[in-house]
Order: sequence, then C-alpha cells, then structure tokens
Amino acid sequence: MEIIVCKNYEEMSKKGAEIIIEKVNEKRNAVLGFATGATPLGLYKELIKAYEEGRVDFSQTESFNLDEYIGLDGSHEASYRYYMDNNFFDKININKKNTHIPDGKSLNVDIECRNYDELLSKKTIDIQVLGVGKNGHIGFNEPGEYLISNTNVEELSESTINANARFFDNIEDVPNFAITMGIASIMKAEKILLMANGSDKIYAIDYLLNSKKISTKVPVSLLNVHKNVTVIIDEIIADKVKI
Ligand code: F6R
Repeated sequence: MEIIVCKNYEEMSKKGAEIIIEKVNEKRNAVLGFATGATPLGLYKELIKAYEEGRVDFSQTESFNLDEYIGLDGSHEASYRYYMDNNFFDKININKKNTHIPDGKSLNVDIECRNYDELLSKKTIDIQVLGVGKNGHIGFNEPGEYLISNTNVEELSESTINANARFFDNIEDVPNFAITMGIASIMKAEKILLMANGSDKIYAIDYLLNSKKISTKVPVSLLNVHKNVTVIIDEIIADKVKI
C-alpha cells in the first residue's frame, strides 16, 4: 500500500488529479470509478482545470459511480447524479452516455442492482476513487456482521445519515437507503485511490493502516487485501496516525 501525505486538502486534490490524468493520458478509454461527498470535490476541480488547460481529454473515458440515494432522481440537488453532472461531468468533455450511476428512482431496485452489476461485469475499473466514512464505510457499504459482494441496497447507518445531513435542508430529508456498488466490485478495480482528510477520518485510516485486522465492521480495512492501493491523506490525519 502506498501512502502519500499531503500538506493540506489542496495538495491532496492535486496529487489525486495527477494520478488520474496520468492514467487517462496513457489509456484514453480508461474506466474510472468515482465517489461523491466532500472529499473528491477538490479532485474534480483539479481535473476540470487540467481539461481546460488541454492537459487531459476525457472524450473516450467511461465512468462508474459508487452509489446513489434511493428515492432521489437526477434533478434533485442532493442526488449523486446531480452532484457529478454539476461538479464534474458538465465541465469536461466526457460523453454523458458513458457515465454510469445507479438510478435511485428505479421502480425495481433489485433489477437496477442487477443491471448495474451486469454493466460492471463487462468492464474493469482502472482507478476507483474512494472516500471513507467516519465509521469506515466505503461506497455505502456500512459496517456490519457481513458485507455484500454485489451492487445492493444498503440501509444507511445513523453515523452516515448524520454526516450527510449537511447536504440536505433537514436531516429528515436524508434518504434512509441507497444503492451501492458492492465490495467485490470495488475490490476488482485495478487500482484504488483512497482519499481522506480531516480529523473525522482518523479512526478509519488508523484502523486501515495500523489495526492489523480486516473486519467487516470497518469496511475500509478490506483494502488491506487489495494489491494496488494508494492512500492520500492530509497532515491532520498523518499527525495522529502511525505511518
Ligand atoms: C460517496 C461515498 C461515500 C463517501 C464517504 C465520505 O459516493 O461512496 O463512501 O466517500 O461517505 O464522504 P465525505 O467525503 O463527504 O466525507
């Protein structure tokens, strides 16, 4: 596992962007796995800047997002489709048809999960970008007795609902369920790029790097069995976690 410590969020976002730009420049039709939330916002800004400067071309890139809230359609400002379009896809030259995000308004979520798996099974994600929840979740694979391998419907934990309330007007508006890529699909990626900053993520990163345990109760710890993981953290985390 490669660990990169950056001075701050800005440096972390730049570093993450460099890794993705290098891949897309070497492989124009790279398949990228994207996350939402606060962590990758700076990364997307850096990628947009690189695109505007002509340093990267996303026209042949395909993407898969980790997750989507159940009950929100793409026009809802808190949906992940809206987030990706507004913060990234609409500002680069990716073909929107090649950007896959589970449909949170699907009438049959089980079929939606199976269709997403079907799409994923035909591709290999070159780089999967991950953030991590305060409780160690990746995607919306929440801590529990077991984790599910394929795309599935996950009930969000109280910790996740509280953390994500900042993206909604009221905490009551946060959906209780989401569709998430499963652990097997995440682990199948050629490379995983995990980004984490700020004190909220100390527990999860410390568990990943120092617990010597792999536990479904801290899903991020599963990354210890992946052969190509880069973890980018800021100094706030690095100061508190043995590296
Ligand atoms: C989002 C996702 C989540 C977030 C995690 C951290 O697509 O899959 O696992 O990466 O909840 O969120 P932030 O970055 O907002 O702290």
